Amino acid sequence: MTTIRNEALHIQGLGGEKKLSGTLSIEGAKNAALPLLAATLLIDGDVTITNIPSILDTNRSLTLLENLGVTITPGKDHEYTFTIPSECGTELDEEISKHMRASIIFSGPVLARSGSVRFPHPGGCVIGERPIDLFLSGYEALGAAVEKNDDGYVLTAPKDGLKGSNFFFIQQSVTATETLMMAAVMAHGTTVLGNAAVEPEIVDLALFLKKCGARITGEGTHTITIEGTGGVPLTSPEEVYTVMPDRIETGSFLIIGALCAQNLTITNCNPEHVEILTQLLQDSGVPLRVEKDSLHIENNTVPNSDFSSFSIKTHEYPGFPTDLQAPAVIFLTQVTGEAKVFETIFEGRLRYLDDIMYMGADIERLDIHRALVRGPRELEGRRLSSPDIRAGLAYIVAALVAHGESYVSNMMYVDRGYENIEKKLESIGVQVKRVTD
Ligand code: EPZ
Repeated sequence: MTTIRNEALHIQGLGGEKKLSGTLSIEGAKNAALPLLAATLLIDGDVTITNIPSILDTNRSLTLLENLGVTITPGKDHEYTFTIPSECGTELDEEISKHMRASIIFSGPVLARSGSVRFPHPGGCVIGERPIDLFLSGYEALGAAVEKNDDGYVLTAPKDGLKGSNFFFIQQSVTATETLMMAAVMAHGTTVLGNAAVEPEIVDLALFLKKCGARITGEGTHTITIEGTGGVPLTSPEEVYTVMPDRIETGSFLIIGALCAQNLTITNCNPEHVEILTQLLQDSGVPLRVEKDSLHIENNTVPNSDFSSFSIKTHEYPGFPTDLQAPAVIFLTQVTGEAKVFETIFEGRLRYLDDIMYMGADIERLDIHRALVRGPRELEGRRLSSPDIRAGLAYIVAALVAHGESYVSNMMYVDRGYENIEKKLESIGVQVKRVTD
């Protein structure tokens, strides 16, 4: 288990000036890499995956795989080769599972491959209770027995393996769709997942599984059909698989560029995946040019108060991503107008607003899902403590636009989702230092 020191970023605010400039290259997507790493357990043999971001959650996932018996050989930059034994473990590491809710994704391939899986109650977190009812009812639909005890859950497949079945999600869930798609890959018969999530990370996972011999159609739509292999593991893909670019890192840096950079180029990204944000920023007045795999903020010399505000209602893809809600709210505190912010996905994802109000923002909470943000308002640098990955990034954005110095602590949360964040910020001109808190 990675020992984590409590560190903070000491940031010199720009006071609303646009002094940053340069180029940022986007890493592989955290939320694609995690299911792809889990999917290796379905393969009999070796597989190499590249563009895996070097962040806390992928490091934890690599440890999870090693604990299940997988041999991992680091390759060149951001690349690993995985050798999966014919017999894998069936227990998800408790310590890691408690710290990383996404570890539940691994339960699908382990159950499919080994016939049983044991995991602790996944940690809830500040953004919401994060229930797993959809996973459990999906597993039951595939014929698994679900036993819940004080330590967590034990799932057992029928002796002759999981059975293909129709399963309709009463609520769209990204990781439940990924997990049950993987569990169905080796089942006996056909599985149809109804009201499936359509996030790009699911399409990336399905593409990888199909390159390993899985028979999947409909990924990216709300109905995914999987023809199970009847207990036969998948085979090594012909070539190295590359993780898709991280759309949330892309959107996070785009917001920093709009607020603080005269010129910023973002490369190795897929602008299509953040179309709702690029559209809103362009409509707001941000000088943003969109190319096939890059984004360009150019001659961004007007004050942020010249940009007009817009309302946000988070929604499943391709709607406004909940993971960009917090960073986008910082933008809304700096532009002119009143914005309605409606966080529809998680009940705890507006808790960070108190700290932004403490910095001087004009925000009115309406209930746990809604707030009004009025701009422009100047922010003052403060000592802030990240409550989760994305609110932590939003605090960094707020610290950048604020007057004076800020400390953003609990960087272990931000490090879960952003590789070398301070190095990247330094490279475009930010005065930032990582200090032990
Ligand atoms: C994925 O989480 C992402 N994580 C989250 O990113 C992202 O915020 C979320 O999707 C929404 O886009 C990964 O992909 C690893 P959900 P996930 O299940 O799958 C409810 C980040 O910062 N629900 O789509 O856990 C749930 O409570 C993280 O990178 C149930 O009720 O989210 C929520 O209200 C944060 N029962 C809604 O569904 C279940 O069994 C959507 O959540 C499962 C979910």
